[in-house]
Amino acid sequence: MPEPKPKSPISSTRWMLGYLMREKAIFIPSLAALFLTAALSLAFPWFLKELIGNPTDALKSGVDPQEVLAKSNRVVLELVAVLALQAIVAFFRVQGFIRAGESALNALRHDLFAHLIRLPMSFFQEQRSGALSNRVSSDLSLVRETLLTTVPQAVRHSVILVGGLVFIFIASWKLSLILLGSVPFVVLAIAIFGKKVRKHSKEAQDALAEAGTVIEETVQGIADVKAFTNESFEGNRYERSLGRFLTVTFRGAKIRAAFLAFIIFALFGTIAFVAWFGARMLANGEISNTNFIWFILFSIFVGASLGTFPEIITQLQQTSGATERLRELLNMTPERTTGDKEVKLVGSLGFENLSFRYPSRPDVQVLTDLSFAVSPGQRVALVGPSGAGKSTVFSLILGFNSPESGDVMFDGRPSSTLALQAIRSQIAIVPQEVLLFGGSIRENIEYGKPGATLEEIQQAAREANAHQFIESLPDGYETIVGPRGTKLSGGQRQRLAIARAILADPRILLLDEATSALDSESERLVNEALEKLMAGRTSLVIAHRLSTVRHADTILVFNQGRIVESGTHDELLGQNGTYRFLVETQLV
Ligand SMILES: Nc1ncnc2c1ncn2[C@@H]1O[C@H](COP(=O)(O)OP(=O)(O)OP(=O)(O)O)[C@@H](O)[C@H]1O
Ligand SMILES: [Mg+2]
Repeated sequence: MPEPKPKSPISSTRWMLGYLMREKAIFIPSLAALFLTAALSLAFPWFLKELIGNPTDALKSGVDPQEVLAKSNRVVLELVAVLALQAIVAFFRVQGFIRAGESALNALRHDLFAHLIRLPMSFFQEQRSGALSNRVSSDLSLVRETLLTTVPQAVRHSVILVGGLVFIFIASWKLSLILLGSVPFVVLAIAIFGKKVRKHSKEAQDALAEAGTVIEETVQGIADVKAFTNESFEGNRYERSLGRFLTVTFRGAKIRAAFLAFIIFALFGTIAFVAWFGARMLANGEISNTNFIWFILFSIFVGASLGTFPEIITQLQQTSGATERLRELLNMTPERTTGDKEVKLVGSLGFENLSFRYPSRPDVQVLTDLSFAVSPGQRVALVGPSGAGKSTVFSLILGFNSPESGDVMFDGRPSSTLALQAIRSQIAIVPQEVLLFGGSIRENIEYGKPGATLEEIQQAAREANAHQFIESLPDGYETIVGPRGTKLSGGQRQRLAIARAILADPRILLLDEATSALDSESERLVNEALEKLMAGRTSLVIAHRLSTVRHADTILVFNQGRIVESGTHDELLGQNGTYRFLVETQLV
């Protein structure tokens, strides 16, 4: 992912609040409850003041001790009543915040995923497998912590701070101003340390995501890891990532600790100074006994709240690193949704003077001034050496990438005038390496036409020569295929992919023939299935088998991004060119 432009914690907090506000009905009452409980927590010093203040004054003026006791009892009872009220409100407040926070997070997860799957293919081609999902999940967990813990904390302490300040200003504005003298130190410290904390948090998140990626890559390629006995190699790779994470975290911890130590010193230093100064005021009669007690009690609360702000701000700084990336992701331009959505393709297809380079590798010209035309129902084979650009032709047809110049034409119309959805929904692809999803066989075939009935699915499986083997499995169509279809053989996976394509009933068929040889029986079954699939549809086949090429209406021979020869098998053999060479060296 590209490095996003830094945004302030304020803008990131506002953005998170936007998500919380989607749950207005829960969030606003919870916020009100939070204000109430925070305000009520100021009752504690208030009642303490009453308890201490009244008796001392009363005793001094020689009032009956019994009366003082009775008054104390009343004050304590009132305090207990307030605490009980606070507890009840807190019960609803805590629940409300969790509901609002988790719902906001789900909304965010939903937005992210919905946006992510609509991003252009070029975005995914540049991602390392696993890096993206790890990144997003670690960023989301940071946002979660902030939404559920830090935001309520920040609100509560703001209320206590403001309320407490009002009380201490009433008690003694002079002492209050001295106490507030520590605020510039806190602000200064935040300015100095905040940026560093944010930078380190970002590095730590990166390092952790990196470690997560190692796990994901290793698990995905576990067969290769074991076959090459590379367990310790992968172990070391993981260890190194973890080591990097620790180093960065330790460095960040140092800054965070220095930050806090400084704040604590500044804050408590100020409080000590205030106490000292207050004592002098008391001695000089500049402040009453009651007001001094009042001031000390409330300033403890004010000080404690003030003391939590550096932590809160550090956390918000960290989170703003994470939200920046999430927002950047949400701001990326998705695939176009323009063009004719209703078009029904007849099935003719062509490239017109098309040139293409992958955006990620702009110095390599992959396709150069490519032109060809396929009529409806025709069968065309694409052959040529590895890296010639055959698969790239498919990805341009599917609109995964856009041409640099020239056009892909469907029924004589440039593809840019048709909606991507409309194009793709009328094309089916049977890829070289069939990847199935972890569900059942039925679900995997249904993927070609979501909502298809079991009869339709079985009919497609029959035509794909897959019904028999599926029925012979103990769970039949409900058999779970294992992660990425690993519980099935290569030929079986291919026939499922063919069944899926038959069910999709496309006008145009793209087939990337498997390079790995199947045994002759599987090959016969697969070929039969393919024949049924290709019948009556425009088919483009990247061919690796002579049998496929022979039956093609036209063969396009690719070399270095150009079509160097085209014609039927017999015509091309007679030309003594690249095709003949490919056939003689058994490359097709
Ligand atoms: N995502 C990508 N980003 C950058 N370059 C790519 C990408 N995919 C393919 N290429 C490059 O484009 C060229 C054509 O690749 P392509 O996959 O189309 O070849 P191919 O003819 O299908 O080869 P094969 O027969 O081995 O499958 C190659 O040089 C390849 O390195
Ligand atoms: Mg290829």
